[in-house]
Amino acid sequence: MVEFSIKSGAPQTGRSGCLVVGVFEPRKPSAAAVSLDRVAKGYLSGILRHGDMQGKSGTTLLLHNVPGVAAERVLLVGLGREAGFREKQYRDAVAAAIRALNATGAEEASLHLTELAVGRRDVAWKVAHAVMVARECAYRFTRMKSKNDEEPALRRLALNVDRAAQRRAAAGLEHGLAVAHGMNLAKDLGNLPPNVCTPAHLADQARELAKRYRMKLTVLEREDMEKLGMGTLLSVARGSSQPPKFITLEHRGGPQKMKPVVLVGKGITFDTGGISLKPAAEMDEMKFDMCGAASVLGTLKAVGEMRLPVNVVGVIPATENMPGGRASRPGDIVKSLSGQTVEILNTDAEGRLILCDALTYVERFKPAVVVDVATLTGACVIALGHVATGLFANDDALAREVLNAGETACDRVWHLPLWDDYQEQLKSNFADFANIGGRPAGAVTAACFLARFTKQYRWAHLDIAGTAWKSGKEKGATGRPVPLLTQFLLNRVKRGQR
Ligand code: BES
Ligand code: MN
Ligand code: ZN
Repeated sequence: MVEFSIKSGAPQTGRSGCLVVGVFEPRKPSAAAVSLDRVAKGYLSGILRHGDMQGKSGTTLLLHNVPGVAAERVLLVGLGREAGFREKQYRDAVAAAIRALNATGAEEASLHLTELAVGRRDVAWKVAHAVMVARECAYRFTRMKSKNDEEPALRRLALNVDRAAQRRAAAGLEHGLAVAHGMNLAKDLGNLPPNVCTPAHLADQARELAKRYRMKLTVLEREDMEKLGMGTLLSVARGSSQPPKFITLEHRGGPQKMKPVVLVGKGITFDTGGISLKPAAEMDEMKFDMCGAASVLGTLKAVGEMRLPVNVVGVIPATENMPGGRASRPGDIVKSLSGQTVEILNTDAEGRLILCDALTYVERFKPAVVVDVATLTGACVIALGHVATGLFANDDALAREVLNAGETACDRVWHLPLWDDYQEQLKSNFADFANIGGRPAGAVTAACFLARFTKQYRWAHLDIAGTAWKSGKEKGATGRPVPLLTQFLLNRVKRGQR
């Protein structure tokens, strides 16, 4: 595991195993590269002139024994054109550097990319994102393998900044590490197999966080939910032999009177579709259907680590969606905690059924705002692919706040409509409404369903079906939207928002 530190000073004085400096396209050395070149008496500019490093983004060139330089190695990293060097290019450059470093035997390195100008981003942002990207590159899920792969040699990474910016850089380091740790927790929980990561396992993880960060934990059992009248949630749990859990984890870092931000995460630990059974192909990926829950736990970990002075309540309805003998049938009508009745026309639209009871339950916290996070619809993947998370909100100022946090965190969302015109699609002849709205605008009608339970407070809904995990060769949880949610809370702290 890499240890990070903040350093200042000219690159040539660093005695680290490897100095990492950038080169813009075409063959234009960054400031750090220029000062290295000066002590190396033109050695680097010679290399650029010969065309071995054009500065194209994603490329790297490793040099040994550069004359006049104390460090054993110098790694040149292509940055692309200077005019187009923005957040994404910066993060890509750091990732390319880390990957190249991991392929060398260097145990320590000194990263000068953190000195580059990245739009208007300050030094804290640059350091935080370098840390997050580095940790992202280092992530492996090896827990279920009987033999572990070899670890890369890199042990220490110094992040170079202006001497006057050291304090702000240290704050960025703390932020970056906290988010990285939160993302790693979210990834681990997502990647765990569904026979291990059950509702009870999620409750155990919440208990660990509660102990470590002195948070308050409440876990409701099936009987508690029955007494409360969580009929839609329980209708999903009926088909499974795993007991459902309703988890509440409270970080009280702000003044007692400060209204909390409530985060609600979908915790379906495996989604077979229930009686409306899913096809077999890729069904294993439905172990990721608890990634909303995992991101709520990950965010609470980051918040706990940073001791953020806000009140945050994480709420996780957790159950499997299985087709057991007691499972709900298409056509069943169930009563939600809100008193509204729902006709279950498709048992595979189960996420909204567990979320709606959670969204009613959270009224008791008198929330400042509520944000729910859910791998809710395949339709959202069709609409936005794997780039942006779908955002819906019953309050435009809140939507802007979330959008803005996503930009800063490089964990982006796109605002989709929640107009009443779509509510018609949920009409039922037999109950107050149905749990599906047909094929058109599936992500919107799912959000419209939830909107019927969130009238009492300002609310945003994040559909992370396309962004919570990757398929194919790189199959695995992404840890999103932990960066977005943490940034959202951090921005509220900075603004002193109630
Ligand atoms: N967990 C799924 C959504 C999902 C599907 C996420 C594929 C990522 C990839 C959800 O519970 C579900 O099954 N939704 C249905 C809703 C439909 C029956 C209205 C869907 O999207 O097909
Ligand atoms: Mn489903
Ligand atoms: Zn689901």
